[in-house]
Amino acid sequence: MKRVFSGVQPTGNLHLGNYLGAIRRFVELQNDFDCLYCIVDLHAITVPQDPAELLRAAREVTAGFLAAGLKPERCIIFNQSQVREHGHLAWILNCFTPLGWLNRMTQFKEKAGKSREEAVLGLYAYPVLMAADVLLYKTTHVPVGEDQKQHLELARDIAGAFNRRYGIDLFPLPEPMITGAATRVMSLRDGTAKMSKSDPSDYSRINLTDGPDVIAKKFQKARTDSEPGVGYDPERRPEAANLINIYAALAGLTRDEVCARFADAQFSAFKRALTDLAVETLGPVGNEMKRLMADSGHVDGILRAGAERASALAQPIIAEVERAVGLHQP
Ligand code: AMP
Ligand code: TRP
Repeated sequence: MKRVFSGVQPTGNLHLGNYLGAIRRFVELQNDFDCLYCIVDLHAITVPQDPAELLRAAREVTAGFLAAGLKPERCIIFNQSQVREHGHLAWILNCFTPLGWLNRMTQFKEKAGKSREEAVLGLYAYPVLMAADVLLYKTTHVPVGEDQKQHLELARDIAGAFNRRYGIDLFPLPEPMITGAATRVMSLRDGTAKMSKSDPSDYSRINLTDGPDVIAKKFQKARTDSEPGVGYDPERRPEAANLINIYAALAGLTRDEVCARFADAQFSAFKRALTDLAVETLGPVGNEMKRLMADSGHVDGILRAGAERASALAQPIIAEVERAVGLHQP
């Protein structure tokens, strides 16, 4: 049996990278598998958050999920903090994770920067909580963008360490699903940095709630090189390659097909076609998100029901873990 789990942090500004790298693929998977999609607020607080903004962003991500086509009848949508077993299992798994493994995590190094002494323990333990999210449901498949690959390898290592320690086969080793033309969407301002929610420049990303004019302006201002044509050469022309990947992912074409389609076009004409395609695809998603965000009662109801269903799935698995470890059970 296949079970799919993935998480998105409620930190505002859902963007094209989240959509192409993750959310759009969640939607495809819900028809064929047993899927859980989680708004990971406990991960979000590993960096300082404004409380009101955190709550708003959790609803915004939920609205983004629904607007992109996730159906509460077909998958479970819920908030991480509402299923207490996530934190509980994370603690247990902390006791199976050597510091040496965590010291290799590049995301921690990037986020902690130079001030390693001031970095908080939660940021360091972030990948263990992520392993707990996945393992709590005996997940077999995890759709994510390229940036989460290392964390998922760690989750596999932790699952293996736990199973070996007790000589049991409790956790399946989760498989990352990182596929498609846009597993790493780059910033529109810098073809070597990934598109991110936290980039101070709003021109670096296309937000799912951006209207047609804003999308047009952002693509128009997107950095490119001085070569006139449309050619895919990520080493020499990273910004152009990124836009080609985005077009390919939005249109469901391969890179070669995109380059062939625009073989005789100027780069500026390609950018205009990309804008039209993006507006056509994202426009309805953004509008539906705004509509849903005005109805927080509806969104909250979905999260409440989702947490109940997720909790029911987690209970027997956490009980199995507690039995294996020898933790007291009532
Ligand atoms: P986050 O916003 O960090 O919670 O990421 C949510 C999901 O979107 C994860 O599966 C990420 O791997 C994916 N993601 C985030 N940024 C990008 C990007 N620039 N390109 C592709 N996928 C991304
Ligand atoms: N760390 C992931 C990110 O920032 C979010 C996440 C948390 C996640 N728990 C997860 C993704 C479990 C997949 C599975 O993108």
